[in-house]
Amino acid sequence: MSKCRVCCAELKTVIDFGSMPISNRFVVDPHVDEYKFNLSVGFCPECYMVELEECVPPSEMFNADYTFFSSTSTAMAEHFHRIADEIKERISDKVQPFVVELGCNDGIMLQHLAAQGIAHLGIEPSANVALKACERGVNVRTDFFNATLAREIVREYGHATVVCGSNVVCHIEDINSVFSGISEILSEEGVFFFEDPYLFDIICKTSFDQIYDEHVYYFSALSVSNLAKRHGLELVDISLQEVHGGEARYYLMKQGAGHPSARVEERLRAEKQLKLDKYEGYSDFSQRVKKISGDLKVLLEDLSAQGERIVAYGATSKSTTLLNYAGVGSNLIEYVSDITPTKIGKYCPGTLIPVKSYAEFEKNPPLYTLLLAWNHKNEIFLKEETYRNQGGRFITFFPAVVVE
Ligand code: TMP
Ligand code: ZN
Repeated sequence: MSKCRVCCAELKTVIDFGSMPISNRFVVDPHVDEYKFNLSVGFCPECYMVELEECVPPSEMFNADYTFFSSTSTAMAEHFHRIADEIKERISDKVQPFVVELGCNDGIMLQHLAAQGIAHLGIEPSANVALKACERGVNVRTDFFNATLAREIVREYGHATVVCGSNVVCHIEDINSVFSGISEILSEEGVFFFEDPYLFDIICKTSFDQIYDEHVYYFSALSVSNLAKRHGLELVDISLQEVHGGEARYYLMKQGAGHPSARVEERLRAEKQLKLDKYEGYSDFSQRVKKISGDLKVLLEDLSAQGERIVAYGATSKSTTLLNYAGVGSNLIEYVSDITPTKIGKYCPGTLIPVKSYAEFEKNPPLYTLLLAWNHKNEIFLKEETYRNQGGRFITFFPAVVVE
């Protein structure tokens, strides 16, 4: 039995995928054993948090070999530019504003503030991506954010007008320490906003590949508002984002510093309607996951039996759960095409499917392509218009397996 990391109540298992490798640890030598852990998710009936039952030590995931760089997608670059613009607007009437970003990755967002001389600090535990941020003129600290670091930052720089984090808060196991750090670092009228994959979307679309080692928490307005209250904070707004296959951005302020918008009430209502506050709301998730995985494997096996080549597109972290759970390996997929230099020439975790450059894909495109980077579908379909016009087909799988 695992306990909820927020409130210590006993978790009820939603899904158990069994043994899994680390999603972003692309394999250099396929003969060396990989680190494995048991991937399963539980629901807390007390505070409504949905979280991993077993966690991987952060040093196994975020280190000098971390392969995920935010700047590989133009849609993401635009998304982060918009965040920077929103921050600039929020701080426009503030005297000596100070902006902190948790998990600033390669500086994709903060570079826009750095360029205008706005006081900022990026916190990034992966040294290699932090170095990229430095090169972009971003002030970075290579560390994990927690309450102790928050106190240090306040001593060194003062309180923060804005604290933000994209796809990072859900990575941090000691979430209570993050939130108590936030309540220390925020100025009286400061805003903390963060965005992560939205539980509502995961359940509605059955997008189970969002579940992997790095994502310790699967947030909803229900769980975030409860978590915020424990730390003297309040959920004052929420907005839904298209990126990463459906995310929610939560805005928090110190209790009483802001007025919750109607959107908060609306999301809470929608989530309750889906029964995300009851174990029952998760009862058929596991069955739906099995159906999609089974359908995908059958389709790929049929195509393969007909002698078709199948290549996969985008060596995403997410795909580690999908490919390993569905049992789709190098017997069905020739290689995965990816544009990230640090992934090319390596092998996918667990399945050991080789990762090759995009040039390889362009040189000899297959008839069928498994779209692992489904969250970038619009961008990729635009890029691959010629491929599709010439008969190339993408296989997608949420909420059901489709050839399009
Ligand atoms: P993400 O879903 O975590 O953002 O990762 C997307 C992966 O897909 C990343 O490794 C880069 C890769 N990718 C391509 O290979 N081609 C593309 O056109 C895009 C948008 C992403
Ligand atoms: Zn709980």
